[in-house]
Amino acid sequence: MKIQHEITREINVPREIVLENFLDLDHINFVHKRCYKYCNIVKKTKNYMLLDVGVYHLPPLPIVTHYTMFHEVLSEDKIVHLSKRKNSSKYIKSEVNFSKISPDITRIIHKHSFNLPIFFYPLKNIILRLIDRWSNILWQEDSEIMSQRLSLYKEGFKDGFHCGKWGIVNGKPQWQYNERKK
Ligand SMILES: [Fe+2]
Repeated sequence: MKIQHEITREINVPREIVLENFLDLDHINFVHKRCYKYCNIVKKTKNYMLLDVGVYHLPPLPIVTHYTMFHEVLSEDKIVHLSKRKNSSKYIKSEVNFSKISPDITRIIHKHSFNLPIFFYPLKNIILRLIDRWSNILWQEDSEIMSQRLSLYKEGFKDGFHCGKWGIVNGKPQWQYNERKK
């Protein structure tokens, strides 16, 4: 049976910063340690990324599910993910849509569909709530780094792969810049 999961978020940062966060998958290994054991970028081209990821669906339980994920940027408004669990024959599709509510506010709609075996159907609502919980942890962590990026932009720093790197500073994941605009 096909199950749909949808969640809408809103954040007070420009869409460009939200999109940058969704394109910068290097941050996963540093920022999302609660929900991911690893994220290996196997291949990256302009619009596509192929990834191997290990997901902790029920943090803090150390149960890892391994996925191959295909990440495609369709436009500045839309990203699509196709993920396949190890030893599964089926792909899960998820879609992320970004809308500019105002120059400083962005809405993100994350739609996700997956196949649930019929004998798990009575647990459907619990499973959806567990997905919400997992997604909420990620969103909280992403919100922190997006807000951090915004404040660094406002301070006059550049952003992007070419001008810094992710690292752990005082035990916290942080983007470190190499140079300033001014
Ligand atoms: Fe993230």
